[in-house]
Amino acid sequence: MTVAFGIDIGGSGIKGAPVDLETGEFTAERYRLETPQPATPKAVAKTVKSVLAHFGETTEGLPVGITIPAVVQHGVTRSAANIDKKWIDAPAEELLSEGVGQPVTLLNDADAAGLAEVYYGAAKGNDGLVLVTTLGTGIGSALIYKGVLIPNTELGHLELDGFDAERRASAGVKTKEDLSWPVFIERLQRYYSHVEALFWPDLFVVGGGVSRNANKFLPKLKLHTPIVPAELRNRAGIVGAAMAAADALKG
Ligand code: BGC
Repeated sequence: MTVAFGIDIGGSGIKGAPVDLETGEFTAERYRLETPQPATPKAVAKTVKSVLAHFGETTEGLPVGITIPAVVQHGVTRSAANIDKKWIDAPAEELLSEGVGQPVTLLNDADAAGLAEVYYGAAKGNDGLVLVTTLGTGIGSALIYKGVLIPNTELGHLELDGFDAERRASAGVKTKEDLSWPVFIERLQRYYSHVEALFWPDLFVVGGGVSRNANKFLPKLKLHTPIVPAELRNRAGIVGAAMAAADALKG
């Protein structure tokens, strides 16, 4: 069994678990702590350390991967659409490695979820172009071609009718503006048609909490591309982070 540790930094919680990379299953129960507020890099690094420490010796020596809802370029976080602005241009991978006391691999949250869906979930075995989108507070995206991730696509920030797309069609906006399903579906239709016309993927996978209600909206979207709900749900970030950590070791 090859095991790596994954940690998912989200707006409200920081969650971690060891992952069996042969199956994509957790080898111990997931542990979650509240995200500190304000969620500065320093404060988050401390909480990440506590999440890992919860598992004690069982995780010693395991590669550690971490996801964050930001662009991550060579270990540096470059954006902060829905997180503390202190992350912009922060040497985040280094800070988190220091905090945890061992080297870590950092990647974008949607990229991690995308990897997990392609290797263990809804797009398992798809050897074409897969576009995974996560509908949460924002919209995250992961573009994976023949199993290889093209990182930091940030398709939640496409401009749509003069708006940042995630300000129109995220699950967060549906809740905030109390959008009815028909209105939300209209916005999703506009969004996915636009993305489809630009990327022509072989498959769309839709994740995020709202995908629990996938039957309410996915069948209503008129697209050329098959569109399916994510399967790993809230496990995807942790699993993808663990995968990235193990992969980084291969060099
Ligand atoms: C961020 C992305 C992130 C997505 C989902 C967006 O606002 O720019 O980096 O993947 O939200 O969390």
